[in-house]
Amino acid sequence: MAFSSFGDWLGLLATTALALELAGGNYKKANFAIAGVFIVRLLPAVLLGPIAGVIADRFDRRRLMIVCDILRFGFYASIPIVHNYIWLYTATVIVESITLFWSPAKEASVPNLVPKDKLENANQMTLVASYGSAPVAALMFSVLAGVAAAISSFTSKRYASTADLALYIDALSFLYTAWVVFKLQHIPRDGGSKSAVNDNIGKSLIEGFKFVSSSKVISGLILGMLGAFFAAGAVIGLARTFVGDLKAGDAAYGILFGSVFTGLALGIWLGPKIFGQFSRRRIFGASLTVSSFFLIILALVSNIVLAMLVTILLGAFAGLSWVTGFTMLGLEVADDVRGRIFAFVQSLIRISLVLVLAIAPIIAAAIGRHSFTINKHHLNYDGAAFTLFGAGVIGLVVGIISYKRMKDRPNVSFLTDVLAALRGELVSESGRTHTGIFIAFEGGEGSGKSTQTKYLKAFLEERGEKVLLTREPGGTELGNQLRKILLDPATGNIAPRSEALLYAADRANHVHNKVMPALLGGEIVISDRYIDSSIAYQGAGRVMQANEVARLSKWATDGLIPNLTIIMDVPAEIGLGRLNGADRLEQEPLAFHERVRREFLNLAAIDPDRYFVVDATQSKEEIRQQIASRVALIPQLALNESRAIK
Ligand code: TYD
Repeated sequence: MAFSSFGDWLGLLATTALALELAGGNYKKANFAIAGVFIVRLLPAVLLGPIAGVIADRFDRRRLMIVCDILRFGFYASIPIVHNYIWLYTATVIVESITLFWSPAKEASVPNLVPKDKLENANQMTLVASYGSAPVAALMFSVLAGVAAAISSFTSKRYASTADLALYIDALSFLYTAWVVFKLQHIPRDGGSKSAVNDNIGKSLIEGFKFVSSSKVISGLILGMLGAFFAAGAVIGLARTFVGDLKAGDAAYGILFGSVFTGLALGIWLGPKIFGQFSRRRIFGASLTVSSFFLIILALVSNIVLAMLVTILLGAFAGLSWVTGFTMLGLEVADDVRGRIFAFVQSLIRISLVLVLAIAPIIAAAIGRHSFTINKHHLNYDGAAFTLFGAGVIGLVVGIISYKRMKDRPNVSFLTDVLAALRGELVSESGRTHTGIFIAFEGGEGSGKSTQTKYLKAFLEERGEKVLLTREPGGTELGNQLRKILLDPATGNIAPRSEALLYAADRANHVHNKVMPALLGGEIVISDRYIDSSIAYQGAGRVMQANEVARLSKWATDGLIPNLTIIMDVPAEIGLGRLNGADRLEQEPLAFHERVRREFLNLAAIDPDRYFVVDATQSKEEIRQQIASRVALIPQLALNESRAIK
């Protein structure tokens, strides 16, 4: 597989390079010729794809593969010998059609060669073999460019071109594959497992379309994936002319092509590890936007080395959005329609690739070559650069649209998500949306929260809002019982993890039965203490990992985050001095309460958008006014007001 994919990639590079070579320096002709190569490569799959699978099932797979490989050897080797456009296209169509029979035979043979429990690994290896060979082929192509230059410097006439050399090596790789398959005696004549017959492309498109248009998230996802392929297609289709415009040759073409795949591989492999904590719905649109941004930069760059670096970055973000998109498709689409949706996406991608590969070079040809002079600096921007720029802008717009469409938690800012991911906190993906406003009060002992929560409730009710004032621990029947256990000094020592779980248990019940229903009804909920109390008391106070405590609470609350958290800040000594009795936690030493206070301030400092710190040593009236004016700034509340005025 690796060898035959290597041959495929090398063949792609060689045939596009040959198309440019045959154009003999004519910019328009070169662009059209390259577009032609891509179209003849993809068309057979679009037209014959579904039939080939069925036919391939009728033959002895091993023999079919060997015959296909020998034929591919012959046709590839014939391209440089005949050396003209007509044969270049004819042979490409034939080779591609042969590949259509070879691939299903290979696909169907794998389950016979691999034990069932290793099938998943085998599929991963197939992916590595088919895409991992691309950068290797690209590197090989660059090396061949050097070899070709060396050979032609010895001979007076241009003896060997890079494309010719590459095509011969490509042909040999198929001969080698034929020999490898010949030695694989284990491939049965026909395995019992019939390879899945692809649906007719038109039918799968119509069915898929019906389903997809019914879901906002999935349509956003597919729009985004198409955008990614549009941008990637533009890069691939224009790469050869773009490199030529930068006054670089075949070697640079190979390296640029390799950079795309290196970037893609990096993004696919490292991206999910780095952004694993991050909401997938958000990372998808965001990474698409970033990669389109790099595409725009690429169009503006006029230095080939810089272009390669930008290409790697572009590829990495495109790869990240591609894996995220595919993973999400798997997660968001119900089991019974998943197959159809995947087929739909695959068909859409093929069609859009054919379109963009055909259109992009034609646009580039139409724009032609241009040079500008600004302050005596000469700048050359040719059709390819303009077209890449345009593709980048389209990608950017699509990225932003799909980000907006899939934005799962409108009341959580992008920054909040990034910061939470950096802190290693798990941001729930399901985080339900609601139309209410959630405000939490936090602070140490004796900070005067209870008084201020009542003031705020009155302030909001005066404005005509429906307000629910509640507290943790407590707030529900179960909560009040837990509260007794947690605060009664008679309970004695509770293991720190047990204490954390009890607070989380109280919170889960509180959110599910009281807070969320009110928020869903559009009410404003004010909670006296919430998640941050656990992070501060159980995390910093009892000295446990803050992010573990946070993760526990986020699980308990299904990711419900307050729109605003108000921290009533008071030095521990003063706060404790205001109390008369002392419950189980209030009996803790001063150092414990100091740690708690510092943790609250840390949390607020990390995300100033979502936190408001009040100096709680001020007078009640001063505090009341400060809180009221901050709360009035909550965007949803401002909206409510304008609605009320209407
Ligand atoms: P409470 O009477 O509400 O305290 P205050 O009147 O100071 O707000 O008691 C809550 C106690 O529980 C308080 O000492 C803080 C502690 N606590 C935690 O340790 N973890 C938590 O998650 C919560 C909500 C409270």
